[in-house]
Amino acid sequence: MTQDELKKQVAAAAIEYIKGVPIVGVGTGSTVNFFIEMLADYKNDIEGAVSSSEATTERLKNIGIPVLELNSAGDIEVYVDGADEVDPRKKLIKGGGGALTREKIIAAASKKFVCIVDESKCVDVLGKFPLPVEVIPMARSYVAREMVKLGGQPVWREDYYTDNGNEILDVHNMEITNPMEMERLINDITGVVTNGLFAHRDADIVLIGKGDKVET
Ligand code: 5RP
Repeated sequence: MTQDELKKQVAAAAIEYIKGVPIVGVGTGSTVNFFIEMLADYKNDIEGAVSSSEATTERLKNIGIPVLELNSAGDIEVYVDGADEVDPRKKLIKGGGGALTREKIIAAASKKFVCIVDESKCVDVLGKFPLPVEVIPMARSYVAREMVKLGGQPVWREDYYTDNGNEILDVHNMEITNPMEMERLINDITGVVTNGLFAHRDADIVLIGKGDKVET
């Protein structure tokens, strides 16, 4: 199976989790894009969706799904999103697509976080994928120096701004053996908006597209 076929397969499996759910949280990325396409068949069954990015909002609107503000939606029953890396304890690295802050907010406000990945995302230790850190623009160089102290090599995602108007540092060469601690340490740096470690609010269910099967 190609990687896209694996993504489609795992997206289809996630549809089972949104049946009967009034408001669905929707993540960002190529795997979630397949999920959004499939959500079109259920648009009459849901009240709407809460979106994690401008890109996802546009896709949802294009297929006729109302996009609701999180502030008025209340608790979300189910949030479906992809990831860049997943470890055996369901801790994640996210934010390759730059939507980490809104993704983290929706994950926090959701009762169930269903993470959909193909098997290439599964790792024993997080950190091979460069860890995205969203920063307030004026703090970028300061945060970069602090990330070096934490053992990483930050690279500025040049000419890129998040939907919140902030910048991103992609931090290479991190071997994250304690994701809970590392998430907290990075968030404690002044000027950091969010980092892409989803360790405190990790996934509840990880669906992995593997061969011709989906593993849970
Ligand atoms: C976006 C994300 C995505 O979920 C992550 O990058 C995975 O994307 P893809 O499904 O395209 O591999 O965190 O900010």
